[in-house]
Amino acid sequence: MAMNFIEKIDKNRVPAHIAIIMDGNGRWAQLRGKERQEGHHAGAAAVRQLVEDALRLGVKYLTLYTFSTENWKRPEAEVAALMVLLFESIEEDLFIKHNVGFRVIGDMSKLPENVRDRLNACAERTANNDAMVLVLALSYSSKWELTEAVRSIASKAKDGDIDPSEITDETIDKALTTSFMPDPDLLIRTGKEQRLSNFLLWQLAYSEFYFTDILWPDFNKEELCKAIYEFQCRQRRYGLTGEQVTNEE
Ligand code: IPE
Ligand code: IPE
Ligand code: MG
Repeated sequence: MAMNFIEKIDKNRVPAHIAIIMDGNGRWAQLRGKERQEGHHAGAAAVRQLVEDALRLGVKYLTLYTFSTENWKRPEAEVAALMVLLFESIEEDLFIKHNVGFRVIGDMSKLPENVRDRLNACAERTANNDAMVLVLALSYSSKWELTEAVRSIASKAKDGDIDPSEITDETIDKALTTSFMPDPDLLIRTGKEQRLSNFLLWQLAYSEFYFTDILWPDFNKEELCKAIYEFQCRQRRYGLTGEQVTNEE
């Protein structure tokens, strides 16, 4: 019999920040004899539902890997269709209604201007919303982000604004596009692969990883709660012994 994970999770210990690599749209469509594009549409519907479910569960930050810098190398028609879908999927009214803040991380300069303007406008209008923050990683890769951070720190050092011997991991945290939020507690990847695909390499240093074969369009509240349940069964030790952690609690 299927477990009811929605009932099983401890509502008081829901991870504050969940990051998700939403993979498997293309395979979901191909399995049904459809165009990959239909998989992306079904994936967008899954995102819409997930935002509401995460919000109700009390998740504070939800970061979704939506389009990587490497994804620009896909066939032109798929990229173009994804950009249209993205443009159509920004649900500003819904964010306002639910007090959700919206943000984007990534190399926005590569996005079509109409998409960029719409994303920026939505981010500005929801900047003070704090029930949950929804972060889309778009035209994002961790190596791109880290390279940009190194550039900005190096140029400050060159100008004498920062002493290289005073650079700490906090200096680096602050130079990243994710500086406004805590690191993810839980990373979920759907679609069977067990890899990071250039996502949040620095920020995931101590996150719990959860991989599932479920293809992204099939991901729902029960699957989310299953991941949260597994997260709640783990002990985060941060290098300490299990006894040390138990005694601290
Ligand atoms: C993830 O699904 C969405 C994007 C990367 C834009 P995919 O399109 O990668 O789906 P698969 O991996 O081909 O099934
Ligand atoms: C990762 O999916 C990127 C997103 C989900 C946006 P990919 O489908 O691009 O990952 P790889 O290339 O198979 O690792
Ligand atoms: Mg994929």
